[in-house]
Amino acid sequence: MPEFREMAKVTLFGSGNKGGAKFTPAKDIPSLADKVVLITGAAGDLGRQTAIELAKYGRPARIYVADLPRGDVEKKAVIERITREAYEQEKDATTPRTEVRFLDLDLTSFDSVRACAAEFVAKEERLDILFLNAGIIRVAKGTTKEGYEVHFGLNYLGHALLAKLLIPTLEKTAPAASKPRVVVVSSEGHAMAPKGGIQFDNLKGECAAMDYSQRYGQSKLALIHLTRHLSTLHPSLTTAAVHPGRILTGMADALKKESLLVKLTAPIAPFFCVPVSVGIINHLWAATSPDVVSGSYYEPVGVPGKESALARDEALGKRLVEWTEEQVKDVKPLA
Ligand SMILES: NC(=O)c1ccc[n+]([C@@H]2O[C@H](COP(=O)([O-])OP(=O)(O)OC[C@H]3O[C@@H](n4cnc5c(N)ncnc54)[C@H](OP(=O)(O)O)[C@@H]3O)[C@@H](O)[C@H]2O)c1
Repeated sequence: MPEFREMAKVTLFGSGNKGGAKFTPAKDIPSLADKVVLITGAAGDLGRQTAIELAKYGRPARIYVADLPRGDVEKKAVIERITREAYEQEKDATTPRTEVRFLDLDLTSFDSVRACAAEFVAKEERLDILFLNAGIIRVAKGTTKEGYEVHFGLNYLGHALLAKLLIPTLEKTAPAASKPRVVVVSSEGHAMAPKGGIQFDNLKGECAAMDYSQRYGQSKLALIHLTRHLSTLHPSLTTAAVHPGRILTGMADALKKESLLVKLTAPIAPFFCVPVSVGIINHLWAATSPDVVSGSYYEPVGVPGKESALARDEALGKRLVEWTEEQVKDVKPLA
């Protein structure tokens, strides 16, 4: 029953995409010529569409799709789909196009996160926009390779480590005209975190006493704190956390397989959801708008101040930073 109550609260009374800034990709994405972008989870719906719109309108030099390892044929298919959808309507093939590349990344493994960052810095001198977008919501309990609760380990800790490893490259890029950005994809679901926000004593393990919405919620709450922390520690960067809205994506499909409640409510879900093309507007706004205030959390589109009290709790944020540093202290920095 708590599962139903929390899900219904977010589904029926969540903020959705209800206004805020007007942002039209074709008009508002500036030129990203020569820039380099990395998007985690860009084989999935929101990440892929973000890559398509950026390639189509901003045309950065390269976009890296960092996602779960797969065969060469599947990787090629991801790259070709983004390229095709970005440029299929274009008659003038002389305008420079974005090159899309695939990077293996399994956020449930410190080794994989480090290898992904190492591969990236071996290839690139700069990073202009980093999207920490990949994410899961799962009913089934589980842990990551290092033994952390799987939502927390993947959605938060894997991304916190990736950001830490890539910060030197982002900072190196900072003298450029516009500040490099880190867009952290959180969720209005951060409000479903358990009492106290983050149960530090249970993060090693399955957090078995929590329902999945609380496990997801605490990981997304932690991402808002990560955004603020990165902003404070690295003023040469612009960081923003976003909730994309409610969108029927691969995440919902995965949940349908595991949750009877989600399966039963599937027929009415479209009434509460927006299409993927709308669901990525907050991503794009946060990555390019001059109005972004670093360290903030935004609901769609560009609406600040909607985070929970726990997301503003400075003592919780400080404890999270200390806890995180302790967990990743043995991961070797990149040479
Ligand atoms: N859809 C919504 O209504 C909604 C609402 C609020 C927030 N969000 C957030 O938006 C983000 C994007 O989600 P989406 O809706 O686009 O879902 P999606 O279509 O399922 O995309 C998620 C992506 O993350 C990848 N991923 C899963 N496990 C991974 C791992 N261990 N390492 C690296 N990548 C991994 C997935 O890869 P595979 O496809 O290969 O599994 C997929 O490409 C998530 O952070 C989600 O929490 C979504």
